[in-house]
Amino acid sequence: MENLDQLRSDVLQRVSESETLEALDGVRVQALGKKGEITGLMKTLGGLDPEARKAAGQALNVVKQEVADAIEQRKAVLEEAALEAKLAEERIDVSLPARPAHVGRMHPISQTMEELVAIFGEMGFSVAQGPHIEDDFHNFTALNIPPEHPARQEFDTFYMNEKEDGSRPVLRTHTSPVQIRTMQNAEPPIRIIAPGRTFRADHDATHSPMFHQIEGLVIDTETNMGHLKGTLIEFCRSYFGVDDLPVRFRPSFFPFTEPSAEVDIGCTREGGQLKIGAGDDWLEILGSGMVHPKVLEACGIDSTKYQGFAFGMGVERIAMLKYGIPDLRTFYESDLRWMKHYGFVPLEMPSMVRGL
Ligand code: DAH
Repeated sequence: MENLDQLRSDVLQRVSESETLEALDGVRVQALGKKGEITGLMKTLGGLDPEARKAAGQALNVVKQEVADAIEQRKAVLEEAALEAKLAEERIDVSLPARPAHVGRMHPISQTMEELVAIFGEMGFSVAQGPHIEDDFHNFTALNIPPEHPARQEFDTFYMNEKEDGSRPVLRTHTSPVQIRTMQNAEPPIRIIAPGRTFRADHDATHSPMFHQIEGLVIDTETNMGHLKGTLIEFCRSYFGVDDLPVRFRPSFFPFTEPSAEVDIGCTREGGQLKIGAGDDWLEILGSGMVHPKVLEACGIDSTKYQGFAFGMGVERIAMLKYGIPDLRTFYESDLRWMKHYGFVPLEMPSMVRGL
């Protein structure tokens, strides 16, 4: 028992020097465990006489309590420190700048299509669609291009395998079959545009086997050539953003319109540089005409009661002209450098990543 004071201060020192919860538990076991130092002393009490046992027992109990309290306190301190360390380690630095969100570019074809839909939408046209794989009737015959008609040769048509009934579906060579489908399914008045993919077996700097067209169709009782001209002049000026853009209607031929006109816009080509606007040169941009009575009749529309106009143009071509893109093939090469140069930054959309 003489050593009790010494043991007390030893154990308390070991407690206060414990740097981890594991080390502290080791100290506890060493002092108060079954075979611990203080427990060992407790066991020696039995050998003392009653007087001495009482005094020594009390003294031991005080030390035991003191050591237990010190361990509890140290434990609280170490637990707090462990929590602090964990929090510090897991801290999120909210002041770090966010990683930049990469915004993709809109392809010039998508952009141009949107512009076309917006311009004609303002004039009261709605958008119609049709299948890419067409039958002969919609792509040719109903458009007044009967079998053996020489106009069929001009189209470089992609034919599909023959079906059981002997017919051969085609990849549509123009968006004009959407005119036919619309007239078969809707009562006039009709005022639609049909933007979409078209296919021809042709590939060079100004032709791609897959390309885009936009078709327009207006059918009503009074629709005349003046409406055709007014609509297309308005369209050309709006699309190219030139208020006084000269627009010329040149007589032409299409099997599905009569009369037919090709539309040219004014331009200059000084120094090899094409500039759209007033000038002494002309550039062809689309085909148009009054819908042929045979086309109306093929769709079950009474050509003595209704008439209208139609037009069609190549989307790549007018995109190339407006945005100065020299080679049509580059539209479909998926070259990211090209997209960064000619692509459009889409409208800012609220996003959860970049914040509202
Ligand atoms: N379908 C014609 C083509 O692909 C373009 C065209 C010309 C469409 C005159 C029309 C039109 O609707 O009236 O070459």
